[in-house]
Parts: sequence; C-alpha cells; structure tokens
Amino acid sequence: MTHEKFPTDTPAVVTCGLPYANGELHIGHLRTYVGGDIFSRALKRMGQQTAFVSGSDMHGTPVAVNAAEEGVSPEKFALRHHEQYKSTFPQFDIEFDNYGHTDDETNTTITQSIVTGLINEGYVYEKEIPVAYDPNADQWLPDRFVEGTCPYCGEHARGDECDEGCGRHLEPGEIETPVSTITDNKAEYRSRPHQFFAVSELQSYLSGFLDRLEGTANAQNQPREWVEGELQDWCITRDMDWGIDYPEDSDLVLYVWVDAPIEYVSSTMQYTDTVGSDTFDWEAAWRPDEDGDGGEIIHIIGRDIIQHHTVFWPAMLRAVGYTEPRAVMASGFITLEGKGFSTSRNRAVWADEYLDEGFDPDMLRYYLATNGGFQQDVDFSWAKFRERVNSELVNTVGNFAYRSLLFAAREYNGTPEASLSETVDTEIQSAVDRLREGVNAYSVRDIGTAAIRLAQFGNEYIQKHEPWKLDDENGQKAQVIRDCVQISKAIAVLLEPVAPSAASRLWDDINATGSVHTVQLEAAFDPPADQFEQPTELFEPIEAERVDELTAKLADRTTTESSTDSDSTSESTPTEESDSPAVESLLENRVDFDTFQSLDIRVGEIQQATPIEGADKLVKLQVDIGVETRQIVAGIRQLHEIDELPGTRIVVVANLEKTELFGVESDGMVLAAGEDADLLTTHGSALPGTKIK
Ligand code: MF3
Ligand code: ZN
Repeated sequence: MTHEKFPTDTPAVVTCGLPYANGELHIGHLRTYVGGDIFSRALKRMGQQTAFVSGSDMHGTPVAVNAAEEGVSPEKFALRHHEQYKSTFPQFDIEFDNYGHTDDETNTTITQSIVTGLINEGYVYEKEIPVAYDPNADQWLPDRFVEGTCPYCGEHARGDECDEGCGRHLEPGEIETPVSTITDNKAEYRSRPHQFFAVSELQSYLSGFLDRLEGTANAQNQPREWVEGELQDWCITRDMDWGIDYPEDSDLVLYVWVDAPIEYVSSTMQYTDTVGSDTFDWEAAWRPDEDGDGGEIIHIIGRDIIQHHTVFWPAMLRAVGYTEPRAVMASGFITLEGKGFSTSRNRAVWADEYLDEGFDPDMLRYYLATNGGFQQDVDFSWAKFRERVNSELVNTVGNFAYRSLLFAAREYNGTPEASLSETVDTEIQSAVDRLREGVNAYSVRDIGTAAIRLAQFGNEYIQKHEPWKLDDENGQKAQVIRDCVQISKAIAVLLEPVAPSAASRLWDDINATGSVHTVQLEAAFDPPADQFEQPTELFEPIEAERVDELTAKLADRTTTESSTDSDSTSESTPTEESDSPAVESLLENRVDFDTFQSLDIRVGEIQQATPIEGADKLVKLQVDIGVETRQIVAGIRQLHEIDELPGTRIVVVANLEKTELFGVESDGMVLAAGEDADLLTTHGSALPGTKIK
C-alpha cells in the first residue's frame, strides 16, 4: 500500500516525543520540537487538517530517580518541570495545538481503557521473572534504579535501555551484574510475577507495517532486525508507586512506555474537547472507519526511541484497533562544538539562556532545521550559527526583502501597477512545489530552505535587472519591482513554517491582509497590497565579538563546573549524548608512508543510487571517479536517503579487490564514519577523480 500524498482528506496528527519532566531544556532538546513544529505548520499551509500535539512524560524512573535525589515527591517534581516546558516551547514559537501530560485524567482514563482492551483481546499474560532487588534499601529496582552490563553488546547500560552501547530496549531481568543506583550496592535478582504484552503474536503484522511505514530511512531500517529476528514479548508492569495503576492489580504500575505514547491520543482528544469535533475530530484520526481508514499519524522523535515507536507502540495500536502510524521521523543527535551536551556539567546552551541573550528564536529554528538532514547529527557552535544566520537569513532573505520593499515604498508607495512576469510566476511555483515535496519526503531541511532558495533567486533577479537603472516610461522598472514584491510575499508564506515571527513581520511590512499563520500556500500568488510603508530589517546580524564572548563563556563555565561536579543527574532526553561518547581506542601499530600510498583514494560523485532487494542496509551506487564510472555496493542506508544521494561527492578507495555483496559486484569502497555510515565528503570543490593524499 502506498499512501496518498499530502494534503489528504483525512485529519493528520503530528506528534513530538514526550519530554521527561525531569530537567531544564537546552537548545539540543529543541531539535525534534522545532522539526515537529515546522512540519505541522507546513502541512497546515498546504491545507492539510492537522493537530500538533505532545505533552510531558511524567512517570517512570527518569522522573522518580531525579525527584528522589531532590527529596521531593515525583508528582510535585514532574509538575514543576511540566509547567516550565509548557511555557518554554511557545517562546520558540513551538505552538502545540495541545500540550498535556501523562498524569492527567484524560491520559489515565484512556491508558487504562487501552490496557483493558489489550487484556480483553487476549494479548496480556502473567509470567514469573527475575526482578532486580536492593536488599539494603529493601526495594525493587525497576529500570533506572538499576545499572549493569548489556547482555547484547557488553557495554554499561541502564536497567531498561543500553544507552551507551547498542541502544536496545532491555527487559527486566536482562541486565547482567546489576547494581542498585540507590545504594550503589550489588543488586540481587528475585523472582516475581509480572504482566506481559504478547508482541510476538504481532510479528507478521509488524513486518508488514514496516513495509508501509514512511518517514526517515533510519526509522524504517533499524527496526527490521528486531521485528524479523526473535521478537520478544514486552513486560508492561513495574514495582513502583509512581505511575498509572495496572487495571487488575494495584500493587503494580504500568511501565512508563505504555502510558507515554498513549498521551498522543489523549492530547489529541483534549484538543478536540477544546475546539470541537467539527474543527478537529480525534476519532477520525485515531479510530479507523469500517474501511480501515484512519488519519495520518506522524511521529517526530529522537533516534534513540525508534524501537518504541516502530515496534511496541504500533503493536499496541494494532491490538486495540487504533490507527497505525503513517510515518516516523527520527532525528539525529546534536553536539555542542563537536562534543556531547552535558546537563550535569553545565555544558549546554540553555533554552532560557538563548532567549536572555536576546537572540531571535527564528534563527535557532532555522539553524536546527537546515544545518543537516533530519536524521543526521548536527553540531551547534556559536561560530557556525553566526555564519549561517548572517549569510542566509540576514544577507539572503533579509537583504532581498529590505532592498526590494524599500525601493517599492519609496518609488511607488507600495506595489507598482504591472502584472506578474511569467518567469517569476514559474519561479515562485517551483519554490512552492519544493516545500510541498519537502513535506512529502519528510525533509525538514527542504521545507526550511524553500524560502531561502527563492530569496536567492530574488537577489539574482534584482541584480540582473538593476531596476534603479531602468526607465519608468515603458514600465520596465515597475515590472521588476512588482515581481520583487510578489517574491517577498511568497517568501513570507514559505518562511512561515521555519521562521514564523519573521514571516509575520514581512507579511505586515507588505501590508498583507489576514495572518500569515493561517494562509495557504496559494497566497504566495495573491496580488500584493497597493500601498505599504518603508520596511524594517527582518533580521539583525550577529557580530563576530558575540561569538567570541559566547564561546568563551561556554568554555569557562564547563571547566569550572566540571572540576566541582558532584551531580550525577541522569541524562535522559531524546537528543542527549553522554559526556564521553564511546570512541574506539587507537590502534597500536603504525603503518609506513608507502603502505598508505599503496591505497588509491579518490574523490567520487554519486551518479545513481538504487536499493538492493533483500538487503536493508545496502545501496548499489554508480560513482563517477573521474577516469571512469564504478559500481560500488555500500552499506549506507541507515543514515542516507537513497533519493538524496545522486550528486553527492564522496571518498572512494579505488584499488580495493573487487567483491560481491548479495550477488551484486562491488568495484571499490566508499569511506564512511561509524555505525551509521556517515559518508565522507570534501570540504572544498575538488572534482571527481582527484587523488586524496
Ligand atoms: N520521555 C521519553 C524520552 O524522553 C519519550 C516518550 S515518547 C512517547 O525518551 F512516545 F512515549 F510519547
Ligand atoms: Zn547493548
């Protein structure tokens, strides 16, 4: 089954992963929320009926552990953070249609009814399992209350996730050499009955689901091995007080990952309660009709929680007959000046701090959305931030709008009389198409750059026609300025998803009617207002000194804090990296220069990329290496969208022995970094065939 393109006639629900209500937000956390906001605004501009929802994740050990450290009740602790998140998101123009939390009445009720549904459908069974126990504290140790060794990869891991190693979800009893995080003592395993959801019964459903699933490639490919391997059942209860009671045994609460995604449904329901079902009908989205058609459910998450969204969650939805997700978009991580964010070491740019420094939220939104593909890792540095902002927002968009509108206002008091030229009409059309295609390809970056591309064209257009030199007699000048005002109007519309405040300032500058936050893309072609005043500058450039100052501030603070660091607050959010990401140790033996020289390494350019049947990670490439075109098979599908590969410059080892993979000949090897096979490229413009030495 292929899905109909957006916009469709059915309602869409765009969700963002629920942040655990357990800490301060830094700019790294904002990536998925900015992505979600951009995506949902773009859908709305396309005329798709859309609810953008999320909420705070209140339960589970990520909250309980931190609350205990602070000596307050989890409820009080979580509510405080919830309120803070709720007020911070709008300050970055992340405007959820509903932002609830998992401990509210709606979510408690729906969770219990869904779990009762699972029980009634026969998907839940009881089983005795070993559960970690701390004899000193006389307490069960669910999830983050225990740490130890991952049975799959041997790395240090938390009770329910291998956060430093293979990234797998771990079931209770799986972690080896368990240690209590309460007392730091060795924990023991005691046997105890728990409730299990028979995910394994849904194996063939899930495998088909993955075939249908859209979104980013990582979310489609990564779960294959879990679903097609030995699919384990899922323990859905925990020995804790804090959480939603398991309906049939109040000694147990539900595992946090049961009630958290259900908040996607609850939050949509609350939205319907607020606006009425004529405006948005949650049931039309989440409950399929007789033909099995529901709405378009799109989950936007960090890549560390792919398994939950592509295995456990769709299994639950299926078992109780709710609409399955149409797409999962999983973002890469974010680093700060090349290293992980660390909340405990204060190595972060805090959300509040960014605003206090007086920066425009649109600038951060733009940076986070366009500095790399959504599933790629993105690095933030004040220097890179300044560079992108100044060159793209200030010099490209801001400059174009300012110079054309100033000219228009001075010479014509607004839009001159002339009709839109065909060239410009076509150009605007392709910019609008680009945004539409960006949505259909789930590319936040393409959505985010649509307006910038159009502004680039605008600058070239104005430069080429030099209206200041043109003569008004034959209407040439009026024509060019008329075109430029239309381009500005189109830029406002296209900029709305990524930079809503700037879009609205631009909209007001040209005296356009209504709100740019509610128009459809077609408004890009509506004739602009006859009259408007002189414009204001859209963006303020960032001075070089600010970069030095902020970079130094970050460095200072990190060193001072780390030497006195006694805070062991667990890092817990989707975009968080641990302080020292596991880096392989250096090889002992050195090679001589001749050995290195024996490799023929060259710049190549991908001409064509095609999938290989039956091999999820492999791509067949035709690579131009200057002297000839080579067929190379590469395991790079984890991170890269096949369609985006052609045109990419890469690095190829050209004199490796030929080999065959999945029956396909591979004549050379492409260089790529790490597990995700992040492709290497050149920094400048070296041509295909250039030797690398
Ligand atoms: N709170 C979880 C985390 O930060 C995400 C929950 S997303 C949901 O990893 F699907 F459960 F909602
Ligand atoms: Zn592991």
